[in-house]
Amino acid sequence: MFKRLDASSTSVRHVQIWLDGEPHSVPDTLTVAAAVLQLRGWQGYRRHVDGSPRAPLCMMGACQECLITIDGRANRQGCLEPVVEGMRIERQGGGSHEA
Ligand code: FES
Repeated sequence: MFKRLDASSTSVRHVQIWLDGEPHSVPDTLTVAAAVLQLRGWQGYRRHVDGSPRAPLCMMGACQECLITIDGRANRQGCLEPVVEGMRIERQGGGSHEA
């Protein structure tokens, strides 16, 4: 479906983000949704209230399936927000994220 650009290229910089309190280095070319999908996979993005997984669908701002907390602000569209150095991201949704 998607193919990641070569992250080892010298033109790709990395930034440190915090996901659920854990530091990660990711390419600065990613959106928040792409970074979380890369780090946690689609089943680890967010949960329905019954605990079943849900994940970003359109990656272009239409479906609202990528809602996530960014720097303390809930319900941000992760597919529209590029990662930036020091960004703090928290997954949201019902149930546990640990399967
Ligand atoms: S993935 Fe559809 S709005 Fe973000």
